[in-house]
Amino acid sequence: MEHYYSRIPMCSSNERLIECKIQDTNFRFVTDNGVFSKKHLDFATEFLLKVLLTKENIKGKVLDLGCGYGPIGITICKLCDTDVIMADINLRAIELAERNAFLNKVTRIDTKESDCFQSITDKFDVIITNPPIRAGKETTYNMYKNAKEHLNDGGALYIVINKKHGAPSAMEYLKELYGNCEVLDKKAGFNVLKCVKK
Ligand SMILES: C[S@@+](CC[C@H](N)C(=O)[O-])C[C@H]1O[C@@H](n2cnc3c(N)ncnc32)[C@H](O)[C@@H]1O
Repeated sequence: MEHYYSRIPMCSSNERLIECKIQDTNFRFVTDNGVFSKKHLDFATEFLLKVLLTKENIKGKVLDLGCGYGPIGITICKLCDTDVIMADINLRAIELAERNAFLNKVTRIDTKESDCFQSITDKFDVIITNPPIRAGKETTYNMYKNAKEHLNDGGALYIVINKKHGAPSAMEYLKELYGNCEVLDKKAGFNVLKCVKK
């Protein structure tokens, strides 16, 4: 069965253009069948970005893990002036993320095809993810665990997760792994979590 996290989506292409404003800046994203939230910027993604851009000082080297068509990585690269890598397992998503980086005129950005951290060797100051809940706990918990090994000391992992999708148990797991897990903000059941590698 095909999902938004299939490595090679087989469904036919039907590209669309999403136009949105984030922090007074206009963005344009090409999306397609077979990628996450193809019709509009996902609510959780938008909330995560708002919290990061208003409450946090994002700097250094950033990884957008499970980047989809690229809204998180491209927005952070443009508005925080950082170096970003966008990674995803879905090849169609990666191709769109590359094109969208160009479309939004961001240059300090790269893409990588990767199953969780399998093809990622670098370390980062910030790792951000709207995790692939539908891919299952094995995948999302693998991301949370391996993120710690890919963070520099003092670096932070940011996650958006709904309480209906297991936010309380994810928080327990993150606290065990990192020794800390702060809720930066909540809205409509979604929590933006921050864990710092100490
Ligand atoms: C909830 S979507 C978020 C997409 C995008 N960041 C956004 O906010 O619109 C999660 C993304 O994780 C990707 N994904 C699923 N399993 C993965 C894996 N094992 N490794 C890397 N990425 C994965 C999916 O392809 C999807 O693009």
